Amino acid sequence: MKFFIDTADVAEIKDMASTGLVDGVTTNPSLIAKSGRNIIDVIAEICDLVDGPVSAEVAATDFETMIAEGRRLAKIADNVTVKVPLTVDGLKTCKTLSDEGTGVNVTLCFSATQALLAAKAGATFISPFVGRLDDIGGVGMDLIADIVQIYGNYDFPTEVLVASVRGPQHVLEAAKIGADVATLPPAVIRAMYNHPLTDKGLQAFLDDWAATGQSILDSKGGAA
Ligand code: G3P
Repeated sequence: MKFFIDTADVAEIKDMASTGLVDGVTTNPSLIAKSGRNIIDVIAEICDLVDGPVSAEVAATDFETMIAEGRRLAKIADNVTVKVPLTVDGLKTCKTLSDEGTGVNVTLCFSATQALLAAKAGATFISPFVGRLDDIGGVGMDLIADIVQIYGNYDFPTEVLVASVRGPQHVLEAAKIGADVATLPPAVIRAMYNHPLTDKGLQAFLDDWAATGQSILDSKGGAA
């Protein structure tokens, strides 16, 4: 499973990238607005920090302008993936840009029929929003299971990129279903590391080790 970081906060991306666990980044207009920075500048900086796909979303809703914006975003760096909403004009844009060889992430997906259309439009990634479905009493993970099954039936190359992730449980369930990617707010990745028994066990190891008076390194702090 690939982990993308869902933020436009460069400091967070730098911190997470240092773990070696970051396979890409997703942004959207709300995350760009939260960063307080110009989209061209911040996407260029993120593309320098992360080798994997970096999603940058168009802001227009009409085909002509979406195409122009998508082509501009794609020029920022080779690892830019253009993000478009799952609308008629969004999928027309997806088809055109993907035919030009540009990676496209189709976002704001809330049904399996939408995901089927996006795959037929040549989407590189489909972004179903599981958290927002859960928020209205739906079961976001059922959608992920449906899409994974449908894409497998027809060998669609479109990767299922689970978005709107609210916590480690979403990541666990997505991995069990076999989704290709999960895009994670930094707080969710950090939460995945944590378990109280790990903390308790580590403290016990440290206490017992301290009692031995030993040091693994030599007196000069070297490996000897
Ligand atoms: O990538 C999509 C994600 O940012 C949306 O998350 O929490 O606003 O539903 P959320």
